[in-house]
Amino acid sequence: MIILKSIELLEQTLQSAAIADKQIGFVPTMGALHAGHLSLINACKNQTSYCIASIFINPAQFNNPLDFANYPNTLEYDIDVLEEAGCDLLFLPSLSEIYPADDEVMAYDIGEMEHVLEGKFRPGHFQGVCRVVDKLLQIVRPQKLFLGIKDYQQCMVIKRMIEIRQHPVEVITAPTMRETSGVAMSSRNMRLSLEEKQTAAVIFTVLQKVKAALKTGNLNFLQERAVSELEAAGFVVDYVCIVTTGSLTEINYWNGQAPLTALAAATINNIRLIDNVNLFP
Ligand code: PAF
Repeated sequence: MIILKSIELLEQTLQSAAIADKQIGFVPTMGALHAGHLSLINACKNQTSYCIASIFINPAQFNNPLDFANYPNTLEYDIDVLEEAGCDLLFLPSLSEIYPADDEVMAYDIGEMEHVLEGKFRPGHFQGVCRVVDKLLQIVRPQKLFLGIKDYQQCMVIKRMIEIRQHPVEVITAPTMRETSGVAMSSRNMRLSLEEKQTAAVIFTVLQKVKAALKTGNLNFLQERAVSELEAAGFVVDYVCIVTTGSLTEINYWNGQAPLTALAAATINNIRLIDNVNLFP
């Protein structure tokens, strides 16, 4: 695996005869890799002819400085697992490479996505995500971009940014990978104690219960019950929300036909976790 830290070297390498004709797939990450990331690398390898990953802990997307300070960094391990997974190139830029001193901050018009659900609880987060992914796409110029559906709203935001900026890239989303307990894999899980990990599994259990109890009519009670169950398990709950799949439109009354997804965000011991489950079909 080639490891490059500078944009200039990366661009030269991508223009070299050995790579120029390949179909490039890209997996952007903030490191602290887990099986969810590896499933993206595998999808990338299966669907393209050259797999590039990046590791960059992007300060612009952390609305909470403590979260940034505590974000896990496991670089040596990450390099080993990417190599083992057959990733072709790792882009490992420094802060000044991505955000030079004269960098202009652009505002992305992502509409209501900025203000609802994750947007409401993490002000500025999605602008930061757009800023870094926009830059990475300009540098890497992949044909396919691989994202995990665990970050449901992020996937939608990035698709919107791609439209705004007219990046010629196809977004491929991959399913959430879970621990045997049901906990959605996330880099933040590394900060959970064993006991907190058991509690974290309650998020998936609660969402599965919403799915099992789904029926035509009013859905408010399902969301309210899910919130109470999470609170009883010790979480501070930001939201449990049922939306039409592929949108962020909250559904309070179900006609029995619309595709539905349940989204949840809850914090335990200052560690904020998100998850989502497809409810129907
Ligand atoms: O999902 C993540 O790890 C990050 O938000 C991303 C897409 C790599 C941008 O920093």
